[in-house]
Amino acid sequence: MTTGNWWTAALRESVNGERPLAVVCNGEALVLFRNAAGELCALEDRCPHRRVPLALGTVTPKGLQCGYHGWTFSGTTGMCTTIPNLREDERVPSRYGARAYRVAESNGFVHVWLGEGSPADVPLPGADYQPRGSEFSGAAVVNIAHDEYLAAMLDGPECLLEFGSVRMTDFFLGDPRVESGHLVVDRGAVWTMRMLPAAFVIDHPLIVRTAVPLEGGTIRVELLDADEVPLVTVYIASSVNRRGTTSLCWRGFRHDARVVGAPLRWHLARRRECAPFRIHQMIDGAALAALLVAPSRDLAAARAAQRALMSDAA
Ligand code: FES
Repeated sequence: MTTGNWWTAALRESVNGERPLAVVCNGEALVLFRNAAGELCALEDRCPHRRVPLALGTVTPKGLQCGYHGWTFSGTTGMCTTIPNLREDERVPSRYGARAYRVAESNGFVHVWLGEGSPADVPLPGADYQPRGSEFSGAAVVNIAHDEYLAAMLDGPECLLEFGSVRMTDFFLGDPRVESGHLVVDRGAVWTMRMLPAAFVIDHPLIVRTAVPLEGGTIRVELLDADEVPLVTVYIASSVNRRGTTSLCWRGFRHDARVVGAPLRWHLARRRECAPFRIHQMIDGAALAALLVAPSRDLAAARAAQRALMSDAA
């Protein structure tokens, strides 16, 4: 078991009291749902009776009912509350329980505490996400391991995502820096109507800023103008899924800033309230392999420095 942390497991709107939601978060299979009181619940996605996924079951007023033999588990404690066909004089044995996780909701995300320790004083990921105006959101599992996803977010975010009408370039604007527990990298970008190949562009009217956490998995990506006025902000929650894949869920919004020099398509998309951002769900392995390992080296160094600091303090 590792040192505990909050991990973002899902979008708020995908967890309800009708259908349990199966997720894999930081490598752990979980089932999320809301109980009859509307409370968020997170259980290990494995029935303690015969090990089938609880996510195949049904949410009932008494808890989550396994789809196989109908045992029911409390969403808050994980304890088995009902076993069908017990005789009147039989009690549910107290050893039958699914593991229950601490769960919290903030800013449109559902977070689960995984690992040892207590969540007291540990801030929820993305606590500073303050959407204004209409949001866009999504969830996906991508074909790349989690550590590699974080590294590519620094070395070549164009392999992983895109902003509408924007082309990212290879030019870093300054050195990577550590800010508020994230490694932050600024990269120059241009509107797509610029016909010059990226290698010949020397002025960048746009900045793509990626901030990758030293611990946990909540990435912040921003599109800014040359004066660093934010145009689009996105939070991407990432974590280890199975078989070398990565779970993602994201929320973002377009700011109200006046945008100078954008192509007509940008303004039309805004009027139609189309999301100005897209995650690549099938990642191009050849493009990924061709990326130079650059700021991700700084991420490894910053993580090592932070761990050394923490072990000195302990
Ligand atoms: S496997 Fe779940 S109740 Fe039997």
